[in-house]
Amino acid sequence: MTVTVPRTMNARRLTAHIGAELTDVDLAEVAHDDDLFAELRALLVQHKVLFFRDQPISRADHVALARRFGELEDHPVLGSDPEHPGLVRIYKDLDSDREAYENAFHCDATWRECPPFGSVLRCVEGPEVGGDTIWVDMVAAYDALPEDVKARIAPLRARHSIEASFGARLPIEQRHAMHAKFPDAEHPVVRTHPDTGEKILFVNSFTTHLTNFHNDENVRFGFDYAPGAGDLLQYLQRQAAVPEFQVRWRWSRDSFAIWDNRCTQHYAVQDYWPAVRRMERAGIVGDRPF
Ligand code: SIN
Repeated sequence: MTVTVPRTMNARRLTAHIGAELTDVDLAEVAHDDDLFAELRALLVQHKVLFFRDQPISRADHVALARRFGELEDHPVLGSDPEHPGLVRIYKDLDSDREAYENAFHCDATWRECPPFGSVLRCVEGPEVGGDTIWVDMVAAYDALPEDVKARIAPLRARHSIEASFGARLPIEQRHAMHAKFPDAEHPVVRTHPDTGEKILFVNSFTTHLTNFHNDENVRFGFDYAPGAGDLLQYLQRQAAVPEFQVRWRWSRDSFAIWDNRCTQHYAVQDYWPAVRRMERAGIVGDRPF
């Protein structure tokens, strides 16, 4: 049965593939209205990332909106607002560790067996210039691959790890403890979108290696393994940097982005130091990729 959702929101596409800015919307209302939420969810599946300006909603409504999509999850490194569990503080200010970069293309938390469905992110305070975020359409990235690459990667699976990213700067004992708490996950290199059936290129900067590349078809001698698998993985990871698949959002106070983490990657551009950038993010628990 096809469910037709009546349209009340105005969605202006920002690029040919990905991203729409919604106007005539009050996110606090959407958080408490079934019909408005159904419309917003349908638009999210269509555009993959939705943007909103001038939404001075309460933190409770921010959490309520995200909870409409599903359970919320904590972040392994960043703290949550104690009064609003699940609202993760991504605060970059003069007390922050300047070296704690965030500028790598990634899907959130693919080191989990069930990576997040998506997130609802708000800009609480932004720099005058800089600090944009880029999102990438990984359906478009998959579609544009050469047919022989698509055939080659169809059966492949890959390991995703927290250790080499968040863990890498920790002392060895802490790194191992983090890895024990959040063990690696294995996912298909090409996953299928549960709502649309589209194929998605699903490797990112948490992906460490291909787990089933080393077979008779791909490897003649031992030394084929590393360059063959490593080069292929890096080629796939580089697709997120192709501008044709991207949208870039300029933040302002109380602007929001809601993204579908299953079929996008993102990159927070860290070009604003020593200006302050404070973001609050509600991450939504997702499904096991297939
Ligand atoms: C994130 O990586 O989830 C945060 C993105 C941002 O701060 O723009």
